[in-house]
Amino acid sequence: MRILFIGDVFGRPGRDLVRRGLAALTALHDIDLVVANVENASAGAGITRESGEALLDAGIDVMTTGNHVWDKREVLTYIGAEPRLLRPVNMAPGAPGRGTFVTRAVGGRPVGVINVMGRVFMPPVDNPFLAVDAAVAAMAAECRIIIVDMHAEASAEKIAMGWYLDGRVTAVVGTHTHVQTADARVLPRGTAYITDTGMTGPHDSIIGMAREAVLNRFLTGLPTRMEPASDNPRLQAVIIEADDQTGRAATIERIDWSADDVSQARGAADNGEPV
Ligand code: FE2
Repeated sequence: MRILFIGDVFGRPGRDLVRRGLAALTALHDIDLVVANVENASAGAGITRESGEALLDAGIDVMTTGNHVWDKREVLTYIGAEPRLLRPVNMAPGAPGRGTFVTRAVGGRPVGVINVMGRVFMPPVDNPFLAVDAAVAAMAAECRIIIVDMHAEASAEKIAMGWYLDGRVTAVVGTHTHVQTADARVLPRGTAYITDTGMTGPHDSIIGMAREAVLNRFLTGLPTRMEPASDNPRLQAVIIEADDQTGRAATIERIDWSADDVSQARGAADNGEPV
């Protein structure tokens, strides 16, 4: 099975890249299932029903989030009605929505997705390591393939989660920092790992936001209203190839596509060519 995990979809530029590029990426790389972190998909903060439905229509199977999940008020009702939209599993008991979902890939094969959030330099949440233990145990009998989105700031906490789950899940994929790291690898017991998948959004920015307001905040210390940037959109993701029977990952490959790459891929997919 080949799984595409798309790094934090940021604002309209990120949504547009997904809408334009996902079908071609899926066709050219023979993808069976698509997961994406969407916590910044609507104007750079949160997710609305309209954006969520558009991303699902574009071909995303399961959407994960993190600390920005509640930024758009309407998500409080949307998340209860849309089981394919997750929030971190280690939020307070009673929080709306859910932190895990079992979906079906092409051919009906079950795939478990777990969304968890770190707590180093992050808003307080329950212990992520104990929370994933319970989540993995709950779906292990049903799913050989399990994908974990570890949404966290500190690389050490994400790396710790990778080693902690090595051999128990198919992949631990980091999100939140919006900078794709060069450490994608398969750990010794078969878990694919990357510290951060990167951002699908505008890269001539400060992690997605227009530079001027963010710089002004650093220079003056005053609160500033931040706006999403638009220049240099890139689609960043990883592709994980895994054995259906064992759940072990064989490879993890990084994707970092410019808007031109997306256009070329669309042309190649239309012509049935490999890229
Ligand atoms: Fe985040």
